[in-house]
Amino acid sequence: MAEQHPIASPASPPLEDKYDPFEEFNRVQGRSGVRNPYPQFEELRTRCPVQKIDMRQLLGNEVPIPPEVVLEVYAALTHEAASEVLRDPHRFTSRGYSMSMGQVFGHSILEMDPPEHTRYRALLQHAFTKRALDRWERELVGPVVHGLIDRFIERGRADLIPELTFPFPVAVIAGMIGVPKDQHENFHRWAVELISVTFARERGMAASGKLRNLFSEILSDRRKQPRDDITSVLAHAEIDGSKLSDDDIFAFLRLLAPAGAETTYRSSSNLLFALLTHASQFEALREDRSLIPQAIDEGLRWECPLTGIMRIATGETEVAGTSLPAGALVNVNLGAANHDDTRYEDPDRFDIFRPRKQHLAFASGPHTCLGMHLALMETRVVLEAVLDRLPNLRLDPAASDLHIGGVIFRAPATLPVQFDAGKVRA
Ligand code: HEM
Repeated sequence: MAEQHPIASPASPPLEDKYDPFEEFNRVQGRSGVRNPYPQFEELRTRCPVQKIDMRQLLGNEVPIPPEVVLEVYAALTHEAASEVLRDPHRFTSRGYSMSMGQVFGHSILEMDPPEHTRYRALLQHAFTKRALDRWERELVGPVVHGLIDRFIERGRADLIPELTFPFPVAVIAGMIGVPKDQHENFHRWAVELISVTFARERGMAASGKLRNLFSEILSDRRKQPRDDITSVLAHAEIDGSKLSDDDIFAFLRLLAPAGAETTYRSSSNLLFALLTHASQFEALREDRSLIPQAIDEGLRWECPLTGIMRIATGETEVAGTSLPAGALVNVNLGAANHDDTRYEDPDRFDIFRPRKQHLAFASGPHTCLGMHLALMETRVVLEAVLDRLPNLRLDPAASDLHIGGVIFRAPATLPVQFDAGKVRA
């Protein structure tokens, strides 16, 4: 049976329209208050690889914490401890997401454990094959990125966050799902409202219902007339001989909305910030494009857009010498693990030339980001476009106090630049 979303019904009272979900989300993430959580991560990590902490130690006083949030968690802070937790879904379940994001996504792969997770994931992977990604790069990602650059290229100056990195990933994921252009803005807003459910529950639930209505229209159209988009793949996919239910499809699409938009916007913003504030490395990249993959990887390690994810211990267990009781909530601290000084020399330094070692920005184990190759391709396309089309790109000398902010989701708010004005691409 289909899900009910009473809050989204037409009879519901309208929500006040001055609300800016993007601002609110960033405020709650502590973007203006928390600039650099890494010294705090380091202090904890040096004390013990896995330890019981109060979430307020990580979030600081700036971030409002809803009363229902469990504050006592076990933080896994080293690369080894975080990897051990992520690679063992039998000892560390993802079911806990059903109480947070599951309320608004529905039952998605994010909250599944094997063997259910394995079956669904194998099927959903069909939407992200190498062949499909090559086509999306040509037909969607390239045109979206260049279209945005066209809008400011003659000006010789721009703010790369609102004008490029913020809008491009959402246009890409909306296009891949098959969301009509006139709904892209709503889609973006609802995607952020979904993941705001922990502090704005009613809005989160309402966004979930609105996305359901939007996806439902696209799905019924694709059932009749398949196209080359993710919804068509899901409409015709089968699991153990039967088709995915509508609710399965909606849950996956709802997960894709923020997963596809929020993280990639932040990682590409962080990378451009890193390059623009490390001029000699940017110059080296301009001279030698073969450095692009390692520059993207280093950006993700140095400033991962999502610094922490959660798991729950299924029974009494031990990680890196620390005992955890059954039911313990584990904060897998990807940010701390990516700055583990036993793995990376001088870990707080951005260095595209450091030896490449697998980082945890995309997690690890069975839930390793399903959109990883898409995100890497999108970041490469945006970086190549910036290098090709914005000669002599540099920070606007009038800009002050530029920084990356936030605790769990991190990005700069603004990145004003100047460049030698070029021509709109033919
Ligand atoms: C740089 C950009 C990205 C980063 C850093 C990132 C990071 C992550 C992380 C850490 C997880 C694991 C969550 C957990 O297990 O708790 C994850 C899962 C996931 N991501 Fe991404 N992501 C990015 C881009 C994308 C994109 C572009 C998409 C899709 C269009 C996507 C789709 C997903 C999905 C569907 C999952 C769930 C996989 C599963 O549970 O098996 N992500 N991502």
